[in-house]
Amino acid sequence: PKQADENLRSPICCIMGHVDAGKTKLLDFVRGTNVQEGEAGFITQQIGATYFPAENIRERTKELKADAKLKVPGLLVIDTPGHESFTNLRSRGSGLCDIAILVVDIMEGLKPQTIESLNLLKMRNTEFIIALNKVDRLYGWKTCRNAPIVKAMKQQSKDVQNLFNTRLTQIVTQFMEQGVNTELYYKNREMGETFSIVPTSAISGEGIPDLLLLLVQWTQKTMVEKLTFSNVVQCTVLEVKVIEGHGTTIDVVLVNGVIHEGDQIGPIVTTIRALLTPHPMKELRVKGTYLHHREIKAAQGIKIAAQGLEHAIAGTGLYVVGSDDDLEDVKEATMEDMKSVLNRIDKSGEGVYVQASTLGALEAMLEFLKSSDVKIPISGIGIGPVHKKDVMKASVMLEKKKEYAAILAFDVKVTQEARELADELGVKIFIADIIYHLFDQFKAYIDNLKE
Ligand code: GTP
Ligand code: MG
Ligand code: NA
Repeated sequence: PKQADENLRSPICCIMGHVDAGKTKLLDFVRGTNVQEGEAGFITQQIGATYFPAENIRERTKELKADAKLKVPGLLVIDTPGHESFTNLRSRGSGLCDIAILVVDIMEGLKPQTIESLNLLKMRNTEFIIALNKVDRLYGWKTCRNAPIVKAMKQQSKDVQNLFNTRLTQIVTQFMEQGVNTELYYKNREMGETFSIVPTSAISGEGIPDLLLLLVQWTQKTMVEKLTFSNVVQCTVLEVKVIEGHGTTIDVVLVNGVIHEGDQIGPIVTTIRALLTPHPMKELRVKGTYLHHREIKAAQGIKIAAQGLEHAIAGTGLYVVGSDDDLEDVKEATMEDMKSVLNRIDKSGEGVYVQASTLGALEAMLEFLKSSDVKIPISGIGIGPVHKKDVMKASVMLEKKKEYAAILAFDVKVTQEARELADELGVKIFIADIIYHLFDQFKAYIDNLKE
């Protein structure tokens, strides 16, 4: 029977925290994937999304013998980078979610980006659960694969339990210093006032059933209104990227509503040519096989293919166009977003050319290059592979400031023609798939010129 229950959308959960706290690894454990080991430098440099269907969550949490049934169709989880350069992506992720998981490494405690993430969550009044990760690293920890945390904890020696309690107490104190009350989730009698801590291991899976169940139960219990499905499309662009065979595509999070193949969308007025998703339990940002859909209901992470998407802006809203009036408003709002990126370009017109795989990556690059210990001016930007036209643009510097006649290419390919033209003109191209390696290469080049 169709009940009101069935009209809830999937909650969106954003996973945040300091670099290397284990965010991606936790998701890998639940997905049974190996995304983290495929990342350049083992750091996340893009925002991603994974859909976990309810059946899967039910299966993973059955040992907890939860009596409450799952009312939501699934859970959409957004992975974010922990590296300091990616504040924009953490902000984007936390702005989209209904609830967050703040991952803290039990061996490290609170770190700068833990606190930054915490402040983003506080600012928006977002509920969150703390995953106190890497419990398996406590000296003498006995592995209890996939076990609920209370069960796993009972298997541990007194020494391990003491070690755990000592670290827990320290971390609870660190949270207190940030003005946040926290407590182990199974002892927490005032959820909502006091934030829950779930000890986890992303390597052996202890506590993961608890984390999943708590996420689902807490959201469906306290956020019914927010999670009630609505027909009004609410959709945000995560990334703009070129995909072989599809041209420029956008990765979006559909927060509410339904979108269809053939829908006219704005602000870039175009028609959806293909609606794609990865398989359930697979990461949207990782290249793989895509499922084609006629229509998709929120919440979901989707790749959209259409004409003209190279003009889309990550972080902006996407609209299904109803009337022309809507369209004008939307265009205006988008121009504002674009300005914030363009503002980072040096007014003097002197600087290097920066090319990146996605707009999110480009924003992070710009943020990094303008930081106080780097300070490299930028004269132009581009997204996708480096083509001859990009080399032409960079070559303008040959006459203005020769050392800036360079392209810093982040995680993109360089076409053969572009390479040849660059050699011919004397434009240097630096390529790396880790942001600061680009900086190191460029700096070495500049230092060399000075000698
Ligand atoms: P960024 O996305 O770069 O911010 O990092 P992250 O938070 O996603 O961490 P990631 O998943 O990349 O893990 C960082 C390192 O910690 C990797 O070497 C993981 O294998 C390791 N790691 C993550 N979780 C655990 C855990 O629970 N136990 C142990 N022993 N190692 C872990
Ligand atoms: Mg990661
Ligand atoms: Na990492």
